[in-house]
Amino acid sequence: MKPLALLTLTFASVAALVGVGGAVAVATGWYDVSAASSHTVPVYRLLEKAMHQAVRVRAREIAVPRLDDPARLAHGAVCYRDHCVQCHGGPGVAPADLAMGLQPLPGPLMDAARRWRPAELYWITHHGIKMSGMPAWGMRLTEEDLWALTAFLARLPDLSPSAYASTLDKAGTARCPTLSASCREGRCRDEPAAATAAHAPSGPWPARGPQRDAAARLALQQYACIACHVTPGVIGPDTHVGPPLVGLGRQQRLAGRWPNNPEELVRWLQTPHALDPRSAMPALGVTPEHARLMASYLLDQP
Ligand code: HEC
Ligand code: HEC
Repeated sequence: MKPLALLTLTFASVAALVGVGGAVAVATGWYDVSAASSHTVPVYRLLEKAMHQAVRVRAREIAVPRLDDPARLAHGAVCYRDHCVQCHGGPGVAPADLAMGLQPLPGPLMDAARRWRPAELYWITHHGIKMSGMPAWGMRLTEEDLWALTAFLARLPDLSPSAYASTLDKAGTARCPTLSASCREGRCRDEPAAATAAHAPSGPWPARGPQRDAAARLALQQYACIACHVTPGVIGPDTHVGPPLVGLGRQQRLAGRWPNNPEELVRWLQTPHALDPRSAMPALGVTPEHARLMASYLLDQP
């Protein structure tokens, strides 16, 4: 047999064996998915390595702003207290109970800056880590919040518990609400007050194109829409808690009652209970910009 044919045959046999092995493992429920058992050593090492490499490659092109600005650092500490300490703990602060039940366990970030460069810390915070419990913050916080967090993480290895506590003391009542929380509280961050009040498409209507589609699909996932609705173009569970969002542009009525047009749809996505106080569709704190993005995408789907 020629060497190439032998190589191909060996490769094909190994691939077939791995395939059969995998199918048997799945069919017999062999792999323990419980969060109370850790991954096996080879799986753990493989996942760690793959994750590190994936982050490194993706963070390469990110331009890092100045991180040593004291105001930015102070804001980073506030954002960290409001959104990260629950899972990761902080200097002298324990994580919340629920975080200790996660697998993988969210580790302390005291030494994260020794493993990751600032661009990588930013990338992880922005995009999250799939199947780990690390959330993506890119649609919840502003760009400035994300860089403030990065600045804070970069400083964390040198921050004593008392320095952390006094930074927060000095920050007083300062907060770092998510965009959604600010919208729910009645004044969306980064939006004129009028936009929050009107809950209508007052800003620019997003132009059609692959960029809009990608951003809209991300929003549909990040606002948990796909947990209840089968959504065109987004992979998610086969769920029917809400009606499928397919062919919405052809529908005369929204939720069976209101005229279906961009204005009503944007309003519905932001404040469903303003239209129907008893609707099972929750108010998800959708920002006006994200509402326009999702509405324009959904109305365009065949
Ligand atoms: C719901 C829990 C949770 C919250 C909240 C959370 N994280 Fe995480 N984070 C995780 C988990 C889980 C991991 C993955 C740990 C692993 O893979 O070993 C992680 C990993 C990370 C890592 C990589 C750590 C390392 O050493 O490799 C960074 C950096 C990070 N998170 C930053 C943040 C920041 C910044 C915030 C706040 C904006 C935050 N996280 C909020 C759960 C959380
Ligand atoms: C917890 C489940 C849940 C989530 C999350 C959810 N919805 Fe809904 N949605 C519903 C239900 C239930 C209805 C039907 C409401 C009614 O008829 O009063 C609905 C109705 C709708 C409608 C009207 C559909 C029609 O055929 O008339 C649209 C559009 C919609 N949702 C879009 C969204 C978008 C976009 C998101 C994310 C921002 C979202 N939903 C998140 C449960 C949900």
